[in-house]
Amino acid sequence: MDNSFNSIIEREQNSIYQTYKRLPIVIEKAEGCRIFSKNGEVYLDFLSGIAVNALGHSHPKIIEAIEEQIRKYMHVSNYFYQEPQIELAEILIKHSKLDKVFFSNSGTEANEAAIKLVRKWGNTINKTEIIAFSGGFHGRTYGALSIMDKPPYKDGMGPFLDNCKVIPLNDIYSLMENINSKTAAVVLEFIQGEGGVSQPTEEFIETIKELKSVHNFLLVADEIQTGIGRTGKMFGFEHFDIKPDIISMAKGMGGGLPLGGIIVSEELSKLWKQGNHGTTYGGNAVACRTGYVVIEALENGLLQQVQEIGDYLHNELVKIKNDFNSKVIEVRGRGLMKGLLLNFEAAILVKQLLERNVISNAASGNVLRIIPPLIVQKHEIDEFVSKTRDSLNNL
Ligand SMILES: Cc1ncc(COP(=O)(O)O)c(C=O)c1O
Repeated sequence: MDNSFNSIIEREQNSIYQTYKRLPIVIEKAEGCRIFSKNGEVYLDFLSGIAVNALGHSHPKIIEAIEEQIRKYMHVSNYFYQEPQIELAEILIKHSKLDKVFFSNSGTEANEAAIKLVRKWGNTINKTEIIAFSGGFHGRTYGALSIMDKPPYKDGMGPFLDNCKVIPLNDIYSLMENINSKTAAVVLEFIQGEGGVSQPTEEFIETIKELKSVHNFLLVADEIQTGIGRTGKMFGFEHFDIKPDIISMAKGMGGGLPLGGIIVSEELSKLWKQGNHGTTYGGNAVACRTGYVVIEALENGLLQQVQEIGDYLHNELVKIKNDFNSKVIEVRGRGLMKGLLLNFEAAILVKQLLERNVISNAASGNVLRIIPPLIVQKHEIDEFVSKTRDSLNNL
């Protein structure tokens, strides 16, 4: 078989549905914060599988957990009691202060579960509307798409769910105008990932909290990108004085294996009866074991490290902004979920960085999204910063 770069590209184009714009890299292996290409290049990975590889690539504890579990069993279905699911659920409950977990395989399925549960709750009390925010990203299934306003993801694929409204983020007037007694839920990312690392303001969250106490709706925190330590806290909502009723999770939770889920309040945990919702693979034992390893690492110092390294990165990014103030407008984000708002297309900087063997990502057009593995070290931040400076100098 011809394994040259060009042949692999050609075979991919001939065999895979062309829905992705891929980087020009054929992966050989990955370790820590590095990706090794088949043609011998070594890249610094500041994308981490789109905010997935919390412990980096091939972490020995993740490999050990996988090996240990696959020797016992991999998949048995949700007909059985599985200790890896229970252990992960217990540790998630401890951190979220909510009450019950439903496991899925991905983020969009987690949000699908959240939307179904919101409907189940709202239908009996005449609360039918779901409110979400402009720039939000919640996944690719119909429920998730129905609470998004991103045309390329929806073009020509309607009709979508009824009674879903997308209103501007951080527009308090719009909140007050649109939230009423019919509101069943507000779905919010505490930092919008795809939406350009945009954050809701304190005032905006306070208003949601006040309106919630008046109109009694559910708050769904989409923590699929912000959750599991990414922002320097276990969940993004912890940066604010508010408590969600449903948290949806995925990405970092599986430590590299596909895993998602929702954590819900005691009240909501009583609504679904057996058979109301389910999945064949959701809560796969191997993925739950790796998920447990990630949260254990966060508890054992990694969360603190994310805060410290995140602050260090933040300061370095602010210096970049000051030194390149004609090109960099703003530093955004928390912990290891950062963004640089540029006054040009971020894809141009992504390309420059790639030429310097750094993998990064453009979000929402003009934001460079910076989401390294949570185990990233200071010297790797320094390498990223110096190559970003070099790239900006070159533009
Ligand atoms: C905030 C948020 N919600 C939901 C999703 C969808 O997750 P998945 O791609 O696992 O379905 C994503 C993925 O990028 C996300 O960032």
